[in-house]
Amino acid sequence: MQHIEKPGDSNKNTDRPRSVYIATYGCQMNLRDSEVITGLLLEQGFGITEEEKRADTVLLVACSVRQHAEDKVWSEIGRFSKMVPKPVIGLIGCMAENYKDSAFKRMPGIDLVVGTNNIGEIPQLLKDIFDTRRKAQDIKRKLSVGKANRDEFVYQPEFRQEENHSFVVISEGCDNFCSYCIVPYVRLRLRHRNPENIQKEIESCIKKGIKSITLLGQNVNAYQFKAVSQDQEIRISPPPLPSPHRGREYRSRSIVNFIQLLELVNNIDGLREFSFVTSHPKDASPGLFQAMADLEKLKKYLHLPFQSGSNRILELMHRGYSSKHYLELAKQYRKIIPEGVLSTDVIVGFPGETEEDFLETKKLLEAVRFNHAYIFKYSPRLNTKAEKLKDDVPKDEKERRHKILLDSQRQISRELKSKT
Ligand code: SAH
Ligand code: SF4
Ligand code: F3S
Repeated sequence: MQHIEKPGDSNKNTDRPRSVYIATYGCQMNLRDSEVITGLLLEQGFGITEEEKRADTVLLVACSVRQHAEDKVWSEIGRFSKMVPKPVIGLIGCMAENYKDSAFKRMPGIDLVVGTNNIGEIPQLLKDIFDTRRKAQDIKRKLSVGKANRDEFVYQPEFRQEENHSFVVISEGCDNFCSYCIVPYVRLRLRHRNPENIQKEIESCIKKGIKSITLLGQNVNAYQFKAVSQDQEIRISPPPLPSPHRGREYRSRSIVNFIQLLELVNNIDGLREFSFVTSHPKDASPGLFQAMADLEKLKKYLHLPFQSGSNRILELMHRGYSSKHYLELAKQYRKIIPEGVLSTDVIVGFPGETEEDFLETKKLLEAVRFNHAYIFKYSPRLNTKAEKLKDDVPKDEKERRHKILLDSQRQISRELKSKT
């Protein structure tokens, strides 16, 4: 990220921070959110710095998915609080939504707490803080969380972090409520962006020379945009099936599903390639894999978390599929897209996970033979359903299971790589 400092702003008598340092933790959603925040700040004349020592403001775009992720951010806030002079400190995103005003009590160095859907307010909130500072008044802490929707303007700033690739959000939030997961509580209800806005955003990336896009969402393949009235009908480019997913003509649609959105994106002039993350097995189908095979710009890459191979644990996790169903899906994917890459997420040590349950997970991991797998140790999350279950798999045992799966996956990844 560049250091953009406006020469005219280099006196203390300003209501805008001259050098905001943004630290990003967690998933691609947070990466995109940090980019959006940077863009909004730049548009309003704020300076951005990559050097934390130069910063008069530090924003931590933070993740709550596991305890370890949060611990790291609390410790960084402690470190920034000790800097002299102390910068204005903002806790932003999932952790802000999780802790709300209690974050101020826990870490008195925090001046600003802004939730995932409130990020559009950051420039104004910082102006207010710097205005009180300019008037030599005590900084009043600012809290803004719990907004149900994101405004479209959040996605409109020109700024992009990378020259050749960009993330484009297609859906926000999650309604799946997997029992272990905090995301539905911090990203809130599932919302789908209007396909016309998605198309416009991709076209604006292309104008900047960015020709590779990743479509983002917690559960992208549940995508479904419904126009609520006739004048909201969506004009999309691909003609309906059985066409070969291409064509220039525009059709009105009142509902656009995920496969239709992929067709629409595939048809955008000037786009070279695109992919999407993350998919949920309950919303994946051979029809989706066929579309992936057919759409020439779509990368043959699927991230499809299975989490556990034990049906008993899958049920406790509220995942909505069986291990047999998952294996069948994976086989279909390999059959329809033999050259495709397949990756997954797995959790070991979920409450009550026995050695047998664990071996079922190992069996599924080894039966599918993923190209990559991200293996996590279960971490209880506040207010989730699984938090009420006893976290009874000892730490050492979680470590052991984690290592066994990592070793097994490393071997599989190596073998698959050597074949290509
Ligand atoms: N929406 C995505 C990503 C969710 S978070 C999805 O559904 O796949 C990324 C991964 O973190 C999850 O797939 C899961 O494997 C892991 N995870 C989520 N909550 C967790 C928890 N409480 N403990 C350990 N791992 C967790
Ligand atoms: Fe979390 Fe499940 Fe939603 Fe993924 S699908 S974000 S694991 S609740
Ligand atoms: Fe973390 Fe929020 Fe992403 S909790 S994994 S940053 S959606």
